[in-house]
Amino acid sequence: MSRQSLQRAYALWAPIYNSAVRGFSAPLRQRSLSGIPSAPCRVLIDGIGTGLDIPYLPDTCAAVGIDFTHAMLRHAQSLSPHFPLIQADAEALPFPDNCFDMVVMHLILAVVPHAGLAFAEASRVLKPDGRILLLDKFLRPGERAFWRRLLAPLSGPIATHTDLVFEDLLAQRPELQIVSDLPAAVGGWFRLITLEKTRAAPTP
Ligand SMILES: C[S@@+](CC[C@H](N)C(=O)[O-])C[C@H]1O[C@@H](n2cnc3c(N)ncnc32)[C@H](O)[C@@H]1O
Repeated sequence: MSRQSLQRAYALWAPIYNSAVRGFSAPLRQRSLSGIPSAPCRVLIDGIGTGLDIPYLPDTCAAVGIDFTHAMLRHAQSLSPHFPLIQADAEALPFPDNCFDMVVMHLILAVVPHAGLAFAEASRVLKPDGRILLLDKFLRPGERAFWRRLLAPLSGPIATHTDLVFEDLLAQRPELQIVSDLPAAVGGWFRLITLEKTRAAPTP
């Protein structure tokens, strides 16, 4: 799937995105973002879209949002005029290593063209002991999910992948440890997952 086709699709989604997604996702966002401490911290909202996470961020955090679809960012900016937003690719983040305390990835990992790259980038910019807050839909390893696998080639280029297996992604990132993994909606297809980046073991 090309980056451009996905950007075009999300430019079309932008005007209706909030009406379609806000209601169902609000309690899930609130639950996930309650994991951000009420203390000074740097937070990246990765693939921020129209900014539906912004109202749930504690005042104490310094947050920035990135997304590669201009139309989605425009909506976010119109609702939150002072929130820092950058048009950027989640697969090549414009930030140095180890600079965020938290990275929020809500409904983005199953959307990006290369989930492994976006996941690696999120981990790279996260400080040791920092956390990734994930909300997305994932298949379990070996889950048959006939319709979701059948739908995947159609839905991937225009909205989201329906056949992503989280455990396959995590296997590529040994520095990330699961803190919690909870079913969130649709019989556990949507999950709320918190990950922590371990400190590198000291070299003997
Ligand atoms: C389903 S929306 C989720 C938006 C928001 N995170 C939320 O929870 O409502 C997916 C977003 O990912 C963005 N996106 C997809 N691939 C991206 C990439 N490689 N880099 C940055 N943003 C990307 C799209 O533009 C879209 O805004």
